[in-house]
Amino acid sequence: MNSAEITQTDKDLIWHPFTPLVNPFGHIPIKSAKGAKLFTHEGQTIIDAVSSWWVNIHGHANEQIADAIHKQALELEHVIFAGFTHEPAVRLAKNLMTILPDNYSKIFFSDNGSTSIEVALKMAFQYWYNQGKEHKTKIIALDGAYHGDTFGSMSVSERSGFTRPFFPFLFDIESLDFPTEENFDKVLAHFDELTNDEACAAFIFEPLVQGAGGMRMYSPEMLQQLISLAQSRGVICIADEVMTGWGRTGTTFACDQIEASPDITCISKGITGGALPLGITACNSKIEAAFQSEELSKALLHGHSYTGNPMICAAANASFEIFESPECKNNIQRVHNKHLKFVEQLKTFDKVENIRLQGTIVAFDLKGFGETGYDSDARKKIYPYFLERGVLIRPLGNVIYLLPPYVITDDELDLVYETLLEFLRNE
Ligand SMILES: Cc1ncc(COP(=O)(O)O)c(C=O)c1O
Repeated sequence: MNSAEITQTDKDLIWHPFTPLVNPFGHIPIKSAKGAKLFTHEGQTIIDAVSSWWVNIHGHANEQIADAIHKQALELEHVIFAGFTHEPAVRLAKNLMTILPDNYSKIFFSDNGSTSIEVALKMAFQYWYNQGKEHKTKIIALDGAYHGDTFGSMSVSERSGFTRPFFPFLFDIESLDFPTEENFDKVLAHFDELTNDEACAAFIFEPLVQGAGGMRMYSPEMLQQLISLAQSRGVICIADEVMTGWGRTGTTFACDQIEASPDITCISKGITGGALPLGITACNSKIEAAFQSEELSKALLHGHSYTGNPMICAAANASFEIFESPECKNNIQRVHNKHLKFVEQLKTFDKVENIRLQGTIVAFDLKGFGETGYDSDARKKIYPYFLERGVLIRPLGNVIYLLPPYVITDDELDLVYETLLEFLRNE
C-alpha cells in the first residue's frame, strides 16, 4: 500500500495513543526508517530526536537486531513460558545480571514499562503479605511521577488530567514533594515521617530524571539519602528505570550513580533497542526469599500470554551486545559532549530557563508559554513547527527536550540544534 492508497477514512480506523480523536495534526504515514531518520511516503526525512518515545537507542532498522529476530523467528517464535523456558530468555537473564547490582537474583518478564511497574508493585505488596504483614500497604511516590498507564502504575503516578476520569479507581498513595536543592531538608523530614509508618510498604521513583513529568532532574546525593533512609526502615525501594535505563543518563542505569541499590528495578524501552516491546522486573535476593516456597499461594501469580517471547529476547540480546560495545559507549559520551556545547548556546537566550543535562538528555523550559502541561500552547505551536522542518520533538508543555538515539550523527544533531536555535531566535 503506498501513501496515495492510505485514505483519511483508512487512517481514521485507528485510535492512536495520547491523541484526541479529532486531531488537527493528523498522523504521518512512515514508510521506512534508518538510524535516527524516519522517511515518509511523501519523501520527507524526519530526524527522530526523541528516540520514538525514548525506546530507540541503536537507531531504526538496526541490522544486527533485525537479523537476530529473523533467525529466532525461524527457530522458535514462541512457547508458553510457564513450565517451559528457552535459551534466548536464559541468555537475556544472564546478560542482565552482569549489569544489575550484585545482590540481584531474579528476572521477571512482562510486556512493557507499565507492566514492569505492575509486577514491581505486586512483588512489593506480596513480599509483605507472604510474611504475614498484610498491613503494609502504603506506597510513597514522588510528586510529578509518571509510571505508566495501567491501573497500578497510574495509581503511583501524579494525579493529573491524564488520569482524572479514573481517579475513583486508583489506590491512595503518599506523595513526596519532588526534591530540589532548596526544599531537600523539608522533603527528607517528610520522608522520615512517611517511612516511619508501620504501614509503609515501598517507595517508588524515577531515578535522577522524571521523564513525562517534564524531564525534571535531581541529584544522585538526594536519591542516595532517600534510598538509604527507606532501606534502613525496611521499606522496599523500587527504581523505575524504564526511561533512564540503557545509558540514557550516562551510566547503564541511573542508580549506578549512587552507592545504594534499589530492591526492585523496572526496565523496558531501550532493552530491545526499540525494536520490540519487553518489560523486566528484576529483584534482589531479599525480595526473592519471601517467595521461595512450593505453595502456590506464595507464588507471584502474574503472567501474560507473550511473556518471555523468544524473538523479543533475541532482539534484547542483540541490543545488549551492541550496548556493551565500545562504539555505543563512545556514542553516548559523544552525544553528551555535544549537548554540553549546545547548553552554552542555550544560555544566551532570555526566554530559556532551567537548562538541564543528564547523559544524553538535554532539556529546558520556555518562558512565556504557560505552565508545563501536555496540552499547553507551546506544544501546539512547537510540535508542528519542528515537524515541518524535519525534526521530531515532542515538548512536554513548555519543556523542550532532546533524547536522541545514540547513533545520531554529529551532522544530524547539529541540524536539530540549529532548528531549535532558529526557533528561539525568531520566537
Ligand atoms: C518512567 C516510566 N515508567 C513507565 C513508563 C511506561 O512504559 P510503557 O509506555 O512502555 O508502558 C514510562 C513511559 O514513558 C516511563 O517513562
